[in-house]
Amino acid sequence: MSSRIIDIYRNPIGRDLLRKILLQLGWSEKLIDNRIIGSLRLGWIQRLSFGRVDRGLLESIISLLNTGDSIPEDKISNTRAWWKEAVFYQVYPRSFMDSNGDGTGDLRGLISRLDYLSALGIDAVWLSPVYDSPNDDNGYDIRDYRKIMAEFGTMEDFDELLSELHKRGMRLLMDLVVNHTSDEHEWFKEAVREPLGKFGDYYFFRDKPNNWTSYFGGSAWRYIEERKEYALHLFSQKQMDLNWENKDVREDIKDMVRWWLEKGVDGFRLDVINYISKPKGLPDGSEVIGKLMGFTGVETYFYGPRLNEYLRELKRDAFEPYGAFTVGETPGVGIEMMKLLTAEGRKELDMAFSFDHLETPGHSRFDEYRYDLNYYKSFMTQHMESYSPYCQMSLFYENHDNPRMISKVDKDEKVRWILGKLLAVMQLTLKGTPFIFQGQEIGMVNGRFKSMEELRDVDSFGKFSELKETIGEEKAFNRILAGSRDNARIPMQWSKKENGGFTDGTPWIGTGDIEVCNAEDQMGDKASLWSFYRDLIALRKKHPALIYGEIEITNKDRKDIFTYFRRDEKETLYIECNLGRENIRRKGVMPTGRMLISNYEDTDEHLRPYEASVWITKED
Ligand code: GLC
Ligand code: CA
Repeated sequence: MSSRIIDIYRNPIGRDLLRKILLQLGWSEKLIDNRIIGSLRLGWIQRLSFGRVDRGLLESIISLLNTGDSIPEDKISNTRAWWKEAVFYQVYPRSFMDSNGDGTGDLRGLISRLDYLSALGIDAVWLSPVYDSPNDDNGYDIRDYRKIMAEFGTMEDFDELLSELHKRGMRLLMDLVVNHTSDEHEWFKEAVREPLGKFGDYYFFRDKPNNWTSYFGGSAWRYIEERKEYALHLFSQKQMDLNWENKDVREDIKDMVRWWLEKGVDGFRLDVINYISKPKGLPDGSEVIGKLMGFTGVETYFYGPRLNEYLRELKRDAFEPYGAFTVGETPGVGIEMMKLLTAEGRKELDMAFSFDHLETPGHSRFDEYRYDLNYYKSFMTQHMESYSPYCQMSLFYENHDNPRMISKVDKDEKVRWILGKLLAVMQLTLKGTPFIFQGQEIGMVNGRFKSMEELRDVDSFGKFSELKETIGEEKAFNRILAGSRDNARIPMQWSKKENGGFTDGTPWIGTGDIEVCNAEDQMGDKASLWSFYRDLIALRKKHPALIYGEIEITNKDRKDIFTYFRRDEKETLYIECNLGRENIRRKGVMPTGRMLISNYEDTDEHLRPYEASVWITKED
């Protein structure tokens, strides 16, 4: 309690925590350099804040700081690995391609589109969950880990998918959802039926709930009549959190993972994996953080006491023997914690997804606002300089949980394609591994929903019913519209045909603007966004400097300009981007060398709106 702010900032985990709090408040990190603020002692903060900072918050900061882990100092030696070179593509199967006219995408549909992915140059597919599930959260609520969801097909279809991918030289990443299972999973049913039996302790049951809230609204506890106890669910009421403290839980999970690896899958994306270690006794969360973040309890478990240990165990016993690759979904984790999770020598995860670049400071997914790409630049500058020398960065703008990036940055239809190309340039030339979400390569934008009835997502419904109590239905709907995960879940736009060629039946969720945006038209057009993605992916493969080369960012203080060099022993590439809608005068000279690709047809003395180009300035 007598530590000073500045001391906390010097501790890697402390630095992440302070950054996170400042980000939420929309304040600058420079504040900490302020002598007076820097010298404040933790214990005083509670007093000075007139109770706005509670004891719980300070205690969870202290316990995180005392985990005593130190960040490895060694830079990565740029060891080669397929997943550093690969371009990944995320398939959300429900919305990708329907083969049988029931309106729901499926595995045979996906198989029929593998040549499309090959043509784009994709190396690996991350497949959102396809396991048996009652679909309360579209497959993220698993009922049977070793069965394929009937709507999506059969295990034979799955085996064929895997072999067809491998035939084309592509790899398959499965989604591993092991923070929770469906309440319809055998384990949970057994736990309820026989509280003293083998499964009685597989989940968290308590007489009295604590104050944690669910990400989808309301308390994180559901009363289970048969047990006369409450069970924990951080997500929907049907997604019950597994108790990783129980060794049998961990062994069962490892068995299941090995079962899929035996089939030949190449790796996993680990769903909310940083939430698996809950602190002993499940202490209440801080109300202050709860208000700030919109959910209570998160600071107690988002980097739990045994997280690193569990990850190491999982890697050692399940992934490593098969050479399987892992990328963890790790919401809320900052740079330093991410290093602890992904530094090569620590043998926990290969890569991680953090999400702090998806909204600008002080904003949440549900705010309607314009995303300023200058924030993306500052975020990336920080990560390129202090993360990627140590670990491999994941590069993404979109997934099935977030609105489309083009919609966030600029809704003006006139700049849609230019902007899409700018985003592509940054994603494929910064240092890291790109993950493209289905439809991003053709510039798909947010869905066009007119009422709550048109939405499908459990998260949107939960938030809506919570919000309408306080701000009324209309305002609540507008917030949901801005942030709904359904924005990115509308069907893939294959062609101008009815329903965008996604299904012959009635799609499970409304389709988007297929007349102006579809794969078929774009594949036949050399100047399209799709062709641009294909060319950039090819360029990335041709120039290893874009993969393993070092990165040097220039013009750091110039607003709207994002420029950087990528170099290895053989060549130097130069990337030049205009992040805004105005012409920018190039101070100094034009880039030298040869232009390799650009979203404008010529060069000009100005950098034009959203202009982005890649140059080669030194070649062998
Ligand atoms: C992850 C998934 C999201 C899901 C949640 C619970 O964030 O990406 O879709 O709802 O975990 O499994
Ligand atoms: Ca189908």
